[in-house]
Amino acid sequence: MRRNSFVLMVLFFTILSGGVLLHSCKHSPYVLPEDQRTNDPSICFERDILPVLQSNCAKSGCHDAASGEKGYVLDNYANIMKKGIVPGNPAASTIWQSLNYTTGEKAMPKDAPRLSDATIDLIKRWIAAGAVDSGACTTSACDTTKFTYSSIVAPIMQSNCTGCHNAASDPGGSLADYNSVKEAAVNGRLIGDIEHLPGYNNMPKNGAKLQDCQITQVKKWVAAGALNN
Ligand code: HEC
Repeated sequence: MRRNSFVLMVLFFTILSGGVLLHSCKHSPYVLPEDQRTNDPSICFERDILPVLQSNCAKSGCHDAASGEKGYVLDNYANIMKKGIVPGNPAASTIWQSLNYTTGEKAMPKDAPRLSDATIDLIKRWIAAGAVDSGACTTSACDTTKFTYSSIVAPIMQSNCTGCHNAASDPGGSLADYNSVKEAAVNGRLIGDIEHLPGYNNMPKNGAKLQDCQITQVKKWVAAGALNN
C-alpha cells in the first residue's frame, strides 16, 4: 500500500513536471544563440534601422522615452531591444509584426501610412540575422556621385523624415512627395535643418544627424536644381 502510493506520487510528479516542461517549450519562442548572431553587411543598424524607428515610432505620445506607449521605447538600441525584438525570430518580434500588419488595431505606425515593403523586409532581415548593433557603419552603401530624387533623396526622406512629415501629420510641412520636398529645398530649410546650421531647427528632430554622405547627396540634388529625376 505504501509502496503503491509512493509509485503513484512519483508518477504524478513526473507527469506534472513533464507538463510544465512542455508548457514552457510551447510558449517561449526560439531565440538565436548569441554566438550565432551575425552582422549582415548589407544592413547597418545605425544607418538603416534606427532612423526608421526613431522617426516613425519614437514620437511624443507614442514611443519616445516620455510616452513609452505599451512599454515600447524605440529611441535607441538598448531600449529597442528591451521589448518586441526576438533575435533570429522576426515572427515572434512584436515590433516587426506590428509594422507588417496591413490593417487593424495593432498595425503600426498608428494613423500613418504603412512603411514601405522594402523597409519592413529590411527590419525582418535585420532581426533574422540576430538584431545586432553594428555600431558606426564601416561599409556605407552611400555614393556621393548619385543624387537623383527618386533613387536617393526620396528614400532618405522616407527613412528619416516622413514618419513625422507626412500628409496626415505635418509639423512644418510634408516631405512625403516631390513638390513638398522641393518647396523645403528651395526655401533653404531642408539643407539648413539637416546640416544643423545656426538659426535652423535640427532635423531629424530628436534623432541622429544624417550621415555626411547623405547630406552631401541632398545638397548636390538641391544645387543641381532639385529636379524630379
Ligand atoms: C520626430 C519627428 C520629426 C522627424 C523625424 C523630422 N522632423 Fe522635421 N519637424 C518636426 C517638427 C515637430 C517640426 C516643427 C518645428 C519644431 O518643432 O522644431 C519640424 C519642422 C521641419 C521643417 C520646417 C520648419 C523648419 O524648422 O525649418 C523642415 C524643413 C523639416 N522639419 C525637415 C525635416 C527633415 C529633412 C527631416 C528628416 C531628415 C525631418 N524634418 C525629420 C519633427 C520631425
